[in-house]
Order: sequence, then structure tokens, then C-alpha cells
Amino acid sequence: MNGLRHLMTPMDFTVDELERLFDKAIDIRNDPAAYRHVCDGRILATCFYEPSTRTRLSFETAMLRLGGQVIGFADASSSSSVKGESVSDTIRVVSCFADICAMRHPKEGAAMVAAAKSGIPVINAGDGGHEHPTQTLTDLLTIRSLYGSLSGFTIGLCGDLKFGRTVHSLVKSLVRYSGIRFIFISPPELRMPDYMRDMLDLKMIPYEEVIRLDDCLPDLDLLYMTRVQRERFFNEEDYVRLKDFYILDREKLSRARENMHILHPLPRVNEISVDVDDDPRAAYFPQVQYGLFVRMALIMTLLDMTDDHMNKGLLKW
Ligand code: NCD
Repeated sequence: MNGLRHLMTPMDFTVDELERLFDKAIDIRNDPAAYRHVCDGRILATCFYEPSTRTRLSFETAMLRLGGQVIGFADASSSSSVKGESVSDTIRVVSCFADICAMRHPKEGAAMVAAAKSGIPVINAGDGGHEHPTQTLTDLLTIRSLYGSLSGFTIGLCGDLKFGRTVHSLVKSLVRYSGIRFIFISPPELRMPDYMRDMLDLKMIPYEEVIRLDDCLPDLDLLYMTRVQRERFFNEEDYVRLKDFYILDREKLSRARENMHILHPLPRVNEISVDVDDDPRAAYFPQVQYGLFVRMALIMTLLDMTDDHMNKGLLKW
């Protein structure tokens, strides 16, 4: 698209490119001072038509920690979309101001529509119930850091597997690594969509679907909890009936392996009791920090900030 590199789905990067991105993220974590001026003079626009705490702040912090600056809006009501402006027009305008844009939108495919008309790289920061690629980069980097590898484990994904965009992007990404077995834990109403199960069948990736978390906990190397996505339900009654279907607490966790890590994209509602937070297996807050480093690495990559630019001061602006 336009000769620019965008990020719509984690599959926009090859497995090798992801490795390089993760190596860069770890390098940034180990030596943040070396990256303090990499994006001097650059501007990130965050166009968020849907609520967000960590994704938007993580992007903004990433750019600020690289020496760049940030513009944007945090909800649709403060943008011209309330006047009827299309996403295509908004991105053409934003392209005149900023060097890179992170966009979140309630409609599936919105970031893709924006990328087609954009003069700057666009990052999909979540499009409806579809994809959330930078959360997946965060999840993959966290898993790689905890286990030293992205292959050969059994991962349980629990909660709202129907509307949860983070699980869709994560599963699509993990199938590219070897020896991964999925256990999908959800009530029948929130099971993994057909198109995802068809994809797994086609690739002959092993997966099971279960309703009870307790039964499969001892088998898991990794547990990925998610909240029930209230905003994507058609009626409140269904949400209320399903919202507390899973609650992981200390007592339940006693059935899990000593080395099973718990991830969650956050925000958490009731699905993980706060008494789990102090357990050494709870990795969801460290996960947030990996998200910052990987977004720093991503911004550099999409702006084509090679090591040469860093070392020789050859910034394009
Ligand atoms: C996720 C999202 O927006 O999809 N949040 C996030 O960006 N970390 C998960 C969620 O909202 O449940």
C-alpha cells in the first residue's frame, strides 16, 4: 500500500522479521538511553475512536521515550467523525501533520481503509472484534521472554473467544511456530469463531474446546485470560449472564503447574481475582511493559530507523 509499511495484522511481519523486532525491543529494554533521540523531530498521531488506557498511553510513551512528540484524540466525540468525516479523509489530513499514526476503531477493517489512503505508516491499534496486532507483539515478546522460545507449549485461552480481538491475532500468529497446542476455554456462546477453527483445521493444528477451566488447568504451560467484551454484545442481559463465567482465584490456581504463567491483555474486570496478582505466575503487569518496548521497536521499524540512522545521526527529518 502506497509503498509504505503499515501494520494491520501480526502476519504483516515474517517470523524472521518478528525475531529482529523482538531482539530490538529487548535491546531497548537493556539500554533505553541509546534510543532517547532516535525519533527527535518525529510526530506520532494517535487516532482513537474507541476507549483505551494502555494501548494509547503505551504508544504515546513509546514515541516520547524515543525523543518524538505526540498529537491525537482519545475518543471519537472529540474528532471530526461526529461531523461525518470519513476515516479516509481523516487519515489524509493526519498525514499532513504526523509521520506515523496508531488508529483504534470500533469497525472491523477501519485501519485497513485508512492505510489505503494514508501518506504515513498506519498501525492498527485494534479494529472492532477483528485484530489487535500490537497486543499480539506484546504477548509474543512476553512469552518469548518468559519461556525463551515461541515453540512447543500448550496454551489455554479463556473467556470471550468470540469477540476478543487479542485472542484472534494471537492464535493466528502462534500457528506459525511449531509444537503449539491450543485449549479454548469458553462458554458455548463465546466460543472461537468458525473462521478461526477452520483455519486451525486446515493447518492441522491441534486444539480442544472446553467449558470448564478447572479441568484443563493442570495441562497448561500458559494461560491467557480475557474479559467478556461488554461493548460488543447485542444485549446487556447476555453480558450479565456471562460476565462472571470464569473467575481465576488463588484456590483454583493451586491446580495449575508451578511454572504456568498467566497473561491477560488487560483491562481485567472480575476474571482474575486480585489475590492472584502476587503469585509469581501472574505475568500480566510485566506484560504491559514488554508492550512499551515492542511498540518502540515497531515505531522505529515502520519509520525505517535503521541502526545506521541511530549511529550516524542520519535522521530523515
Ligand atoms: C484489549 C483490547 O482493546 O482489545 N485491551 C488492550 O488493548 N490491552 C483487550 C480488552 O479490551 O479486553
